[in-house]
Amino acid sequence: MTSKTTATTLPTRDLTERIGTEVLADKGALLSGVHAGAIRELLEQRGVLVFPKIGFTDSEQVAFTETLGTLAPERDGEAVYDVTLDTTVNKQADYLKGSFYWHLDGTMNEVPILASLLSSKVLPAGGGGDTEFCNTYAAYEDLPDDDKQRLASLRAMHSAWNTLLYYDPEPEFATLRQMMAIGQCELPLVWTHRSGRRSLVLGCTASDIVGLDYAASTKTLVRLRDWATQPQFVYRHRWSVGDLVMWDNTGTMHRALPYDPDSGRMLRRTKLAGEEPFA
Ligand code: SIN
Repeated sequence: MTSKTTATTLPTRDLTERIGTEVLADKGALLSGVHAGAIRELLEQRGVLVFPKIGFTDSEQVAFTETLGTLAPERDGEAVYDVTLDTTVNKQADYLKGSFYWHLDGTMNEVPILASLLSSKVLPAGGGGDTEFCNTYAAYEDLPDDDKQRLASLRAMHSAWNTLLYYDPEPEFATLRQMMAIGQCELPLVWTHRSGRRSLVLGCTASDIVGLDYAASTKTLVRLRDWATQPQFVYRHRWSVGDLVMWDNTGTMHRALPYDPDSGRMLRRTKLAGEEPFA
């Protein structure tokens, strides 16, 4: 008997021209994995996928993540991470203070995570807490040619301690040393992916460009962040409870917009393991 694959169309709706698409498939279809290939493809093209009010439980979110690739466990081995600034719930909540600044995840690793998936559980009392994403493929594509040439050979240093200086500009020396012990990584400013597409590698982990003096380096990093986060490259997600948002961490940056740390805001995250080193 020959098996037959039935092509299933994934129902979608684009949210902006350059980034973000809503996926309107039902929970059962998503969990069955029937759309996994199409979702992976769409993620790479559109940067951010929104599954409005899909209402996954933690175990459903893990199961869905596993239909798409290899689930990357968190530092302590757990599959699901509480994204909250409430230190009684998440002992490492302090690290999340860096999430208010544009970044991509995993700049301390040779192979950064492929994607993150966030489910909204509790909205912040008092408002705020939207999440913004920018498309770093589209931002690179639209750069003038002379900029592309100039950036091609540049590399930047990335570190967790640079992010610390964003949210705690006068840290205690002990805190700085602790963050410095995590290390630093030299990465290209322009990532040439296996697909041949190129994206910008920026964000609050980037401290300086190798070989440039401090002023020239800061000027370039700030100018490029400003460029990459222009409205045409950005999608802003206003959360409803039950939404799941996933993003291609290799072709986007993201940041949380301000919210009160005591507001109760709770998102739950799973991650897909990286498949491609920075290059
Ligand atoms: C993150 O940076 O991964 C969290 C984003 C958010 O809290 O909206």
